[in-house]
Amino acid sequence: MKRLTFPTGFLWGAATAAYQIEGAWDQDGRGPSIWDTFSHAPGRVYENHNGDIACDHYHRFQEDIEQMKKLGLTTYRFSFSWSRIFPTGVGKPNPAGLRFYHELVDALLNAGIEPNATLYHWDLPQALEDQGGWLNRETAVRFAEYAAFLFREFKGKIKLWSTLNEPNGTVVGYVTPAFAPGKNDPSLHMQVVHHLLLAHGMAVREFRNAGMGNANIGIVIDQWQRVCETGTPAEREFAANETDAYYIGYLDAIFLGKYPQSLHDRFSFEVRPGDMELISQPLDFQGVNCYGRYVVYTDEKGNVCSRFDRYPRAMYDAVQKIREYRPDVPIYVTENGTACPDVLGKDGHLHDQDRIAYLRDYLAELHRAVQDGADVRGYYCWSLMDNFEWGAGYSMRFGLQYVDYETQERIWKDSAYWYQTVIAANGFDLEEPLDASGGGIQYAATLVQPEKF
Ligand code: BGC
Repeated sequence: MKRLTFPTGFLWGAATAAYQIEGAWDQDGRGPSIWDTFSHAPGRVYENHNGDIACDHYHRFQEDIEQMKKLGLTTYRFSFSWSRIFPTGVGKPNPAGLRFYHELVDALLNAGIEPNATLYHWDLPQALEDQGGWLNRETAVRFAEYAAFLFREFKGKIKLWSTLNEPNGTVVGYVTPAFAPGKNDPSLHMQVVHHLLLAHGMAVREFRNAGMGNANIGIVIDQWQRVCETGTPAEREFAANETDAYYIGYLDAIFLGKYPQSLHDRFSFEVRPGDMELISQPLDFQGVNCYGRYVVYTDEKGNVCSRFDRYPRAMYDAVQKIREYRPDVPIYVTENGTACPDVLGKDGHLHDQDRIAYLRDYLAELHRAVQDGADVRGYYCWSLMDNFEWGAGYSMRFGLQYVDYETQERIWKDSAYWYQTVIAANGFDLEEPLDASGGGIQYAATLVQPEKF
């Protein structure tokens, strides 16, 4: 048995996003976002689910904060809905939408829970999409205006800010039909990436100009290693391309101020003088989203594909990857968690041992990174409660709390009770040593690491 203790002052949190939990999609003056349009179009989302009601958090945030208090959370990560604040993305702010976020933030502060706000978690106002969305450079300017408004509004209240959550979630909406806005044109990839990162850079500039005192700003990137099952040239090429386009391209731009050459070779996109300087402004922290890794393999028909692999060591590697770029940057793990086939028992309890094992193993790897010198300041479990899982609708449950969507009752899963003890003890006992390979056991012997790792 080994006791794993996290540094003093380590923040323990849970994360959510506006469209996934708020509901109240057309109430109190909220304008539509691309996810409203997308989920209302038949056949786009699993069983035509949508976020119209979701977890009804808009009306139940007080009760949700009571649950956070019981869990012992010291921080909570949420996102602002841009179209709740500016219904068409620009112009006059919507007072009711603004009031909601003020009440939320005030209630968190009263509860002693540090708010961690994300400005953009994939829900672009539809009115901006109608003007070209992230293919239009002007959208970045609109984003900076929206960000500057919120900085002024919440100055002194919110100390942790992220510009974007996982730009990949937006990019996927332009290059595939799976996410909003569902454009399905792979050639758009880098123009969307660049405008998103430009929006990030412009918002950071606004943040610095706003004189935000001791508040900090960063960006949240999902970090996915790709490993090849057999390492054929085609698998290697696929892995290298995906790595640059969906992972390293972001980190190179943010930390080094340039995109990998492969992205310039493969895509046509416009970068104007000064853009990369804006994008690579120093940040106060880096947000790491880590779920696992991808294994690139060749199917029976000879197609090269990739599949998700649960791999706790991905957490250690993700943190170390950031340190390779900037050894001293403070890190928050802004998301980590898993969907399980959660079924409520007849006894009214939900025994999600598999989720507990997942969280324990990833947290153990995070602890190892801290022991090796990483400046990790906090951890956010995805998610506080089951919610709208984008293209998968409500079919996937990621929550620490089970949500009964008929009654909106929140029921603690065993993982919530477990997480409560971890927070109270600022750590946990690791009963069995982790597998030396760090997980991914069925592949560990044969996988081929691409050069970059
Ligand atoms: C996203 C969340 C999502 C989670 C689980 C992350 O990529 O930021 O919105 O629900 O993964 O898929």
